[in-house]
Amino acid sequence: METIKDIARLREKIREVKKKGLSIGFVPTMGYLHEGHLSLMKTAKKENDFMVISIFVNPLQFGAGEDFEEYPRDLARDEMLARSVGCDLIFSPSVKEMYPSGYGTFVEVKKLTEGLCGASRPGHFLGVTTVVTKLFNLVSPDRVYFGQKDAQQAFVLKKMVRDLNMDLEFIVLPTIREADGLAMSSRNKYLTPEQRKQAGVLYKSLKHARELIVEGERNVEVIKQAMANLISEAGMAEIEYIEIVDKENLKPLLTVNGECLIALAVKFGQTRLIDNIILEV
Ligand code: PAF
Repeated sequence: METIKDIARLREKIREVKKKGLSIGFVPTMGYLHEGHLSLMKTAKKENDFMVISIFVNPLQFGAGEDFEEYPRDLARDEMLARSVGCDLIFSPSVKEMYPSGYGTFVEVKKLTEGLCGASRPGHFLGVTTVVTKLFNLVSPDRVYFGQKDAQQAFVLKKMVRDLNMDLEFIVLPTIREADGLAMSSRNKYLTPEQRKQAGVLYKSLKHARELIVEGERNVEVIKQAMANLISEAGMAEIEYIEIVDKENLKPLLTVNGECLIALAVKFGQTRLIDNIILEV
């Protein structure tokens, strides 16, 4: 496994791999790898000849006052974990390498980026789509792997791939959870022991929503209120949003009917956690 920091060397290596006719599976990450990333990487390894990951904490997708500076970084730990699942190449560029002085090109997906996390994090998805486009251009993957935990990100990137005719297969894999259901995330590291204990309520509220729907409840407000009541029992939780949206266009629903996405963002102190499930009624 090689760790590459500069674009020129990356291009050289990718050319070599392509010349040999090997397929490339790519997992973009911001590092501080956890089981969620590792499950994407294991699948990428199985389905491709050569597995690449990127580790880049992308300043463009963090707003003012967000956790860009604090975001956990530990390349040595990540290299060890990546090696353990058969990673062939880590691309870990500096901010200057990705955005040299004078950088001025951005990729924007409209509409799908307006609600959910897009509403509370203006500019976030512009940062994601821009960096992911650059990474796809650099790595030239045959298949790319993303987690369902970041559901809106996956929807937005899939749309970008379709709209811009990017020649790759976009694969979304299930959320990997801790024993109490908390979705794995690099940000879980920020939680105090008490916050961590309470954070299990997020998945519990999603499961509760599913139960209500299975029992026949169709009124979105009733379901959202039941979820909010449950989450509020965890005294440290501050709900940013709970939404039930159409699975195709991410527009809020009034009644549950067909496939829907139930998504939430909740803060514990300064730590913002997201989670979701997809339901077919
Ligand atoms: O999901 C993430 O870790 C990031 O948003 C991504 C896709 C690596 C882009 O920076």
